[in-house]
Amino acid sequence: MMERLCASADVPEGEVFQVDLGDGRVLAVYRVDGQVYATDDLCTHGDASLAEGEIENGEIVCPYHMGKFDIRTGEATGAPCSIALRTYSVVERDEAIHLI
Ligand code: FES
Repeated sequence: MMERLCASADVPEGEVFQVDLGDGRVLAVYRVDGQVYATDDLCTHGDASLAEGEIENGEIVCPYHMGKFDIRTGEATGAPCSIALRTYSVVERDEAIHLI
């Protein structure tokens, strides 16, 4: 079953938006080149919300130590990050973004 994360309008092109599902899961939802993606919001290096970071060339730059992750794959692409982010499958339908 699909789980609604947020409205499409919450995530403009090139932006990242935090979604707290209220059950311990906090996700970062991204839009890059029109496509939506989701990862865990918590950086794997420290206690930082990636939704407060900036997207550059398909990567999210952590606001704390400027580590980087590939938004599509979750792979850690910039030091000091070395552990991949968990990614989630999302779909956009009816003006909303859903977890599938
Ligand atoms: Fe994210 Fe250190 S907490 S790079």
